[in-house]
Amino acid sequence: MEAELHRLQTEARAALTASVNALGLEAFRVKYLGRKGLFTTVMRALGDVPVAERPRLGKLANDVRQELEEAFAAREAELAGSQMAVGAPRSDLTLPGRLAPFGKSHPVTQVMEEVCAIFEGLGFAVAEGPDVELDYYNFEALNIPPHHPARDMHDTFYVSDSVLLRTHTSPMQVRAMQKAAPPLRMIAPGKVYRCDSDITHTPMFHQVEGFLVDRKVSFGDLKGVLSVFIAKMFDKKTPIRFRPSFFPFTEPSAEVDIGCVICKGEGCRVCKKTGWLEILGAGLIDPAVFKMVGYDPDAYTGFAFGLGMERIAMLKYGITDIRMFYENDLRFLSQF
Ligand code: PHE
Repeated sequence: MEAELHRLQTEARAALTASVNALGLEAFRVKYLGRKGLFTTVMRALGDVPVAERPRLGKLANDVRQELEEAFAAREAELAGSQMAVGAPRSDLTLPGRLAPFGKSHPVTQVMEEVCAIFEGLGFAVAEGPDVELDYYNFEALNIPPHHPARDMHDTFYVSDSVLLRTHTSPMQVRAMQKAAPPLRMIAPGKVYRCDSDITHTPMFHQVEGFLVDRKVSFGDLKGVLSVFIAKMFDKKTPIRFRPSFFPFTEPSAEVDIGCVICKGEGCRVCKKTGWLEILGAGLIDPAVFKMVGYDPDAYTGFAFGLGMERIAMLKYGITDIRMFYENDLRFLSQF
């Protein structure tokens, strides 16, 4: 029996080393350490050995068994930590792949693209200009000389005495007119900057400038183009009204209101109970601007307008705080 125990010990040690996964380990356990395993069989022979030999052989058998059980536990722990364990979950190659979430355009970009598409459909060409602009284009060439009180409206970020962050997209009127002779029909989308921040103002926002120059352009043409735009952008039946206003680079000037899209004109918090919402500034281009760019003010007339993109996006989607556009909260952004 002693020889048999040693043989079993050697055989079991080798079998354990040869077990490379959970299945193999379980087979080992059943074969050697199980209730009907080889070890139990050898132990049964203990009843046949002479009484004097029993304590020594019994102890030997226990020592061997204990050693094997410890070796088994150690091997099990070792395999559980390795990737070869078959019991561990394996990749199911028939499952469909996991799609990475798609990114999409910012709501303000979406609205800007929609606005541009409408005007492009009306034959306007798109031009872009610099965010860092000369005082000359932002103010002087637009009939706003140094110290003119209209500069106060703009809360300008200055880079130096003559360089600034553009406060509106109107400088693109001048840049475009300097480059090409009339007729001209253009829009200029882009970022603008003003030192201002509250629930309806952010220091950076977006405008789309539009302008058209030709012979005999009238205020009626301006009204027609803007009416078509508003009908396409909002509901077809959205009412529109022109209120007299002032800009140094347009004469006459107007601010344009649309019937409140939230309460449909009944009067609510968003329209401050007036039933109307201001959405843009516009007018006929001032002859002084034509003189600046070398156009003959007696031969040509034109109109211009400037639209705030955030304003339009807020009305379209019923957003009450402009700052939400710039907090980069994915719960907000993913809704568009
Ligand atoms: N540039 C003006 C603004 O930002 C808007 C405007 C554009 C007004 C064109 C008239 C003509 O306030």
